Amino acid sequence: MTPYTHAQYLALLDTPVDRRGSDSIKWAKYAGHGGAGGKGIIPMWVADMDFAAPPEVTAALAARVAHGVFGYGHTTRAFLDAVMYALLRDYGWTVQPEWIVPLAGLVSGLNIAARSFGNPGDAIITSTPVYPALYTAPEHMERRSIRVPLNEADGWGWDMAAVEAAHTERTRGLFLCHPHNPIGRVWRRDELDSIAAYAEQHDLVVVSDEIHCDLILEPGLKHRPFALHSPAMAKRSITLMAPSKTYNIPGLGAAFAVIPNPNLRRRFERAMAGISPHTNILGLVATTAAYEHGLPWRTALLEYLRGNRERVMTLDGVGGLRVVQPEATYLAWLDCRALATDSPATFFEAAGVGLSDGRDFGGKGFLRLNFGCPRSTLDEALERIRQHLLESAPRD
Ligand SMILES: Cc1ncc(COP(=O)(O)O)c(C=O)c1O
Repeated sequence: MTPYTHAQYLALLDTPVDRRGSDSIKWAKYAGHGGAGGKGIIPMWVADMDFAAPPEVTAALAARVAHGVFGYGHTTRAFLDAVMYALLRDYGWTVQPEWIVPLAGLVSGLNIAARSFGNPGDAIITSTPVYPALYTAPEHMERRSIRVPLNEADGWGWDMAAVEAAHTERTRGLFLCHPHNPIGRVWRRDELDSIAAYAEQHDLVVVSDEIHCDLILEPGLKHRPFALHSPAMAKRSITLMAPSKTYNIPGLGAAFAVIPNPNLRRRFERAMAGISPHTNILGLVATTAAYEHGLPWRTALLEYLRGNRERVMTLDGVGGLRVVQPEATYLAWLDCRALATDSPATFFEAAGVGLSDGRDFGGKGFLRLNFGCPRSTLDEALERIRQHLLESAPRD
């Protein structure tokens, strides 16, 4: 296929694709909603973007569909090679093929991980607010979830003193969201040092959800896989990754774990048995194409998202709203505690914008805004939000 130029990728990203009436959960939520004086509601909640996938990915999928036979797939060498190539290219991480365990999704991976070490009644610690599966997965697997609030006053860092204070004899693992959803933090070396020291001291398995790792927006910051922190951490880590957020293919159900320690890996695979389905063959094809050929598209995506982030940040301070600037992801965390409402989600739905309720992440008084969409959609949504804020008096 003819290569695209950077400008052509940017133009593709800027072109709206009508998702109304499609199978999109994001757009179905408010379908037919007459809200906001008949304007309807622009959905900016669940974390998928409104961009078409990279043309290289769509072409690979089309070729696979044209084959016409869709039997059970196996993990192809091309898939493994593409994952290893991307991890080495992007993070300098040399991964052996046997460390890679294909998965049907990251949430499955978190649940399998929670089941793969320790015993029912043990505990797994995480920081909140956080993507819900990081605290629900342990509970699904009869483990206790210990939730320690991030330290807002300290730039939303891990509060290691509070982590130590919450530690119990039965804590067996730590779930890390790296980079962090919904705050958008990229954990710094010293923060990872503290987490690693805590894990080492208490002999914990660290499950690192790195689904957003290719989406670093802050210039000068880099993602460093937790497993690369040190050989000691590699041995106690389960890294969960996927091309789904970056290349906007979450509906294809493709993810993978990287587990260097053979004992941990065996236990993880045992925990999958009979529960985790064969990986979707189209997901394998899309992953392979995305990691092999998707980099120029991703470079354009990051530029586009940085521009979107700038636009979102113009809401900071409007009518008492505060916006936490995300260092990564296409998600912004909105502090609505100064607004004159006890239900910020309903407040903005009345303005014609559908956001994720912070309570789902353990953040009451906050909302999460997904800015992974073309500028025309974003600008309309931001304007609705701005107007609504200016028309509503802040809390006394
Ligand atoms: C941190 C994090 N983990 C996992 C997921 C879900 O992954 P999957 O759709 O592969 O189950 C998301 C989706 O937004 C996420 O943000």
